Amino acid sequence: MKDQKLSSLVKAYPFATIFLNEKHIDYCCGGDHMLYESIAEAGYERSAFLTSLVAFLVDAQDTYKATVDPSLYGLSVASLIDHIEATHHSAERTLIAEVDDKLNTILWAHYKNHKEELLTVHSLFSDLRKELLQHFVQEEEEVFPLLREEATPQAILMVESLENDHEAAGDSIKSLQEATRSFQAPADGCPTYVATYALMKTLVEDIFLHIYKENSILFPKYKEGAIL
Ligand SMILES: [Fe+2]
Ligand SMILES: [Fe+2]
Repeated sequence: MKDQKLSSLVKAYPFATIFLNEKHIDYCCGGDHMLYESIAEAGYERSAFLTSLVAFLVDAQDTYKATVDPSLYGLSVASLIDHIEATHHSAERTLIAEVDDKLNTILWAHYKNHKEELLTVHSLFSDLRKELLQHFVQEEEEVFPLLREEATPQAILMVESLENDHEAAGDSIKSLQEATRSFQAPADGCPTYVATYALMKTLVEDIFLHIYKENSILFPKYKEGAIL
């Protein structure tokens, strides 16, 4: 693991972003750095850092496995796609619209006291919203129909491009987490402010689960089928 680039660590283990955020290690702009270099630059002792990273990842994988219905692992590619579209794409579109609406409300209501934070959060969320909505359509209209058919080299390239999108979404989420103090409204925030950040947190948690299902269940199953 220590000989890995930060970007490939995050790609293989999307939940590593949570750990790296806590340790203030930049996997976004510093994605090309080797993990061991970043550990040293941030002033951590390498073996202790790696031990706690592995423990965190095992725990996170278990947590997400526990929330993933075990029967999903036995589904066909087509049935997994049906499940992902019907649950995550649909729920996240609703959440995105709700957060967008509430964010516009608090931007106006709290502009005076929280101008800097709200302008930043509004811009970051607008970017994430656009990335996600375009990604869902690309999956539904372009890539998933190909995955329902027999595996082809072209479809595998498209899957890799989707994995890169997932990484980019992780970067946007990291910036949002920083700008919102991990989705904590300020002390003088009204109930709508609190609800907006809470909904944003729910959305982000659903995105992590969604990415887990695509990167760790759907795509490997599809690629497995291509080799056979
Ligand atoms: Fe998706
Ligand atoms: Fe996706």
